[in-house]
Parts: sequence; C-alpha cells; structure tokens
Amino acid sequence: MKKLFFALPGNEKLMDLLLQKQDGEKGKVEIHQFPDGETYVRILSDVKDKEVILVCTLHEPDSKLLAVYFLAKTAKELGAKSISLVAPYLAYMRQDKVFNPGEALSSTYFARLISSFIDTLITIDPHLHRRSSLSEIYTIPTRLGHAADHISTWIKNNIDRPLLIGPDSESEQWVSEIAKNAEAPYVVLTKIRHDDVNVTVSVPHVDKYKEYTPILIDDIISTGHTMIETIKHLKIVGMKPPICIGIHAVFAGNSFEEIKNSGAKEIISCNTIPHESNRIDISDLLIV
Ligand code: R5P
Repeated sequence: MKKLFFALPGNEKLMDLLLQKQDGEKGKVEIHQFPDGETYVRILSDVKDKEVILVCTLHEPDSKLLAVYFLAKTAKELGAKSISLVAPYLAYMRQDKVFNPGEALSSTYFARLISSFIDTLITIDPHLHRRSSLSEIYTIPTRLGHAADHISTWIKNNIDRPLLIGPDSESEQWVSEIAKNAEAPYVVLTKIRHDDVNVTVSVPHVDKYKEYTPILIDDIISTGHTMIETIKHLKIVGMKPPICIGIHAVFAGNSFEEIKNSGAKEIISCNTIPHESNRIDISDLLIV
C-alpha cells in the first residue's frame, strides 16, 4: 500500500527528501489562517485506507499543533488507515520536572496530547534528560533516529584535528559517541543554568589541545547562551575560535547572530529544523 505524505507549511523540503528515499505519494492539502487567526484545513487527496504520514517539525509548537491535530483528525474521519507523525524536532521535552510548585509538567501533557490523535511518532534525538525513553510519557509507538554518526562523518570530512566539547554532563551521551566515530578526543564541561537565559560554564584543563579545532556540540541551540558562555571561556584559556554544532537549530530570537558575534568560527546544524545553518542531512533517519 502506498504511503501518502502531507507536509505542514515549512516542511515541504524535508518531505521531498523523504520521498526521494522511499515509495510514497504527495497528498494535497490546503492550510491557511482565517483573518481572525484561526486555522483552516482541507484534505484534497483520497486518504481512505491509506497510511498517512504527516511531516511537521515541532519547534515553535504552539503555532503548529492545531493544524497537525485538524489534519490528523480529518484524515481519520475520511477513513485513513493510520496516521504517523514525522517530527524531527520534538518540542516540550525540557520541562520534564516540576521545578517550582504549581508548574505544568509540559512534557508529559504534550506527550499525552500527541498520543491521543497520532498512531506512530518518528523523531530525532529527543531531549531525554531525566527520562530514559519516550515510552515513559508517550503511549503510542515511537521511533528515534540518532544524528551522531552523521555528525561524526561531517567532522571527519571537514575538520582537521578536532577536539569535541560538550557543554554539560547531559551532552556526554552524544558527544562521547560522536567523538568515538570521528576518532577525536573530547572534553565535557560543567554548566549551571540559573534561569531560562542565564548559564555559567567551567572549562577543564585544555592546555594540551591548543592546536586543535574546538567543536562545541549540543543537542539543542535555543537562546544560544550555552554556546556563547562556552565560547567566552575557550577564548580566556587561549583556544582557537570554535565551530558550534547543534542537532536542532531552534535559534530563539537573534541567537544565531549573537553566537556568530561572540566569536564562533562557524555554526552548523542538522536539518531537523529548516535553517541557514543546516549542513548535515539526517533525512535517511526518518524513513517510515
Ligand atoms: C539543555 O538541557 C540542552 O541540552 C541544551 O544545552 C540547551 O537546550 C541549550 O539551550 P540554550 O541555547 O538556550 O542555552
């Protein structure tokens, strides 16, 4: 049975990459905002008995989720056999704990909401920090791809004498794996997050790596403060300007410019979120 792919606005390029790698057809859908800001969705293809794949990365999720919901519900109403969501960036994974009394445990609620109208979720390196698996919060089958090998290959092909740097202990899981495959040394820093935007990092002894190219690796680059703070410290200890690699190019506000201005030599990301920094194609990890 042919799969029918629908790209939510902004995800057309990723859908085309997916369709170059597997059998499937493009579904036709109309999505627009009414003048009052509400969302209009109309499916124009025959979805009856088909496996429907919705392609929608979920950064800035609040403005995207209703269209995904309406599309999924309409497809089911019209007889679709199943609905899979390809969301290479999965939002709301960082609020995985009630830090202050009264806070919403958003990652759990978001997972329950998605699980209530999607049959299968496919994503890339979700931010699993205090949780070890998506099945702790998602009640539907989920499939994860890992960008580590793609990043190692990019480093091997492009960088001479790389030193990989993880900004915090959470990053060790992927930095160590990337370093192993890139045959490069790595160090992990200590980060203290004070609030949404303020972080401090400490850099361990890196004297013996002065001739290396530092490569900062993080799963998400959002406000950029983790990268900026780390760059500041690398400068102080006399390291070369670093290359910053993020799996997910969230880049809130002006953070991309701010990281560039803070002294990064280059900023690179995987194409889980469309952005000018996308250099590493991970679409083969999203084949359904
Ligand atoms: C933290 O838990 C993540 O792994 C990243 O370090 C964090 O999301 C980066 O955020 P920002 O760019 O806002 O410092």
